[in-house]
Amino acid sequence: MTEDSGKNPYRPGVGVRPLYLAGREAPLRRFDAMLRAAPEQQANMRVTGLRGVGKTVLLEVFADHAQSVEWEPAFMELQPAHYTDAAIRTALGSLLERTRRRLSRLARLRSVAGKALRASSLSVSWEEVSLSVSFGSEREENLAGELFVTVELALAKGRRGVILLLDEAQLVRDERDRHGEHPLSLLIAPIVALQRQELPLGLVLCGLPTLAGNLQKARSYSERLFRGEEIDSLAPAQALQAFTRPLEQTARSADPALAETVAGEVEGYPYFLQLWGSELWDAADLAGVDRLTPKLLDATRPDIYDRLDRDFYDPRIATLTPAEQDLLLASARCPYPPLRSADLSHASEKTPGNVNVLLGRLVDAGALYRIRKGEYAYTAPKFRDYLRRRDANR
Ligand SMILES: Nc1ncnc2c1ncn2[C@@H]1O[C@H](COP(=O)(O)OP(=O)(O)OP(=O)(O)O)[C@@H](O)[C@H]1O
Ligand SMILES: [Mg+2]
Repeated sequence: MTEDSGKNPYRPGVGVRPLYLAGREAPLRRFDAMLRAAPEQQANMRVTGLRGVGKTVLLEVFADHAQSVEWEPAFMELQPAHYTDAAIRTALGSLLERTRRRLSRLARLRSVAGKALRASSLSVSWEEVSLSVSFGSEREENLAGELFVTVELALAKGRRGVILLLDEAQLVRDERDRHGEHPLSLLIAPIVALQRQELPLGLVLCGLPTLAGNLQKARSYSERLFRGEEIDSLAPAQALQAFTRPLEQTARSADPALAETVAGEVEGYPYFLQLWGSELWDAADLAGVDRLTPKLLDATRPDIYDRLDRDFYDPRIATLTPAEQDLLLASARCPYPPLRSADLSHASEKTPGNVNVLLGRLVDAGALYRIRKGEYAYTAPKFRDYLRRRDANR
């Protein structure tokens, strides 16, 4: 066994690239097509999906694709602190500054630079653009100016445009109150206005399904400016590939019956496929066998679920208040899907008013998302099974 063929080939983690990226050809094709159609068509995409489904990994592959067709990617993970106008402006400002610094370091001016500059609308100056586009506030105008100079520099360095890739974008949302904070609109408005001037600038917002609702409710711009990509679990054939392909460069192999069982048991969810694979690999290593079998799975299952709960689920509820945790545990006794607030009021001792407040907080904390009025779903796959395991161990 060579050193590499003896290494665990699975990659359970957060934003950790798998050895084999299964079943994401369609969104990648659409991303490429979107860049090709820009700037005449607005290059905006909304990527949503449950926890651990592979959004961050996909966003990183988007960045690679962008780079390979000469677009400059600017990647950032948004944080809970970015919920105010001032915070989003600062965060975006430093992202753009980092991007400009990176571009400035590109020593070689590509020969296409001249051509790109002439072909684009950037033969005009920022003042001319800002005059023809009206911005709501000084803050928006500043941001627009920074976006403009970043794209301008990218073109001067031979790039075709700049694509912003913002992860965990569900954390940024507008307040209902007109006078409140509107960081999501503040972010989108200048980008869309510059796109209308055919500036080669794109935006990918990626996050939990809550993001779709946030965009619908955003003050000034609606969802229809975005192409929607829903990233789901893998279909059975793709899940099998995700499980078996990483083994190909190794000295171990999987029994076909085992691969089928795993793909079915984890319902095609990418994180779970990596975790099951990784644990089975270690178990095989420990047992000194080179074949992963259903028998090995049976022996390893308790360890797998232990690690799943510890690494994937526990951290998601650890930051919730006791009342919020109680409500989640009570939700495991309700019919699902969807989770109805009316059922929850019956299942817990809390008043309907109290239940609604807690549901709102669980949505803000990213544990649930709202499907429609009074109906919710968990943001992590197979979360209800986890709650039941926890309830049973209390
Ligand atoms: N298409 C895929 N094929 C195989 N494995 C994948 C695929 N996509 C992601 N994975 C694996 O799944 C795990 C989760 O990926 P990732 O962190 O990108 O998910 P996510 O949707 O961003 O999750 P979260 O919502 O928690 O941020 C990683 O271990 C990654 O290696
Ligand atoms: Mg992620």
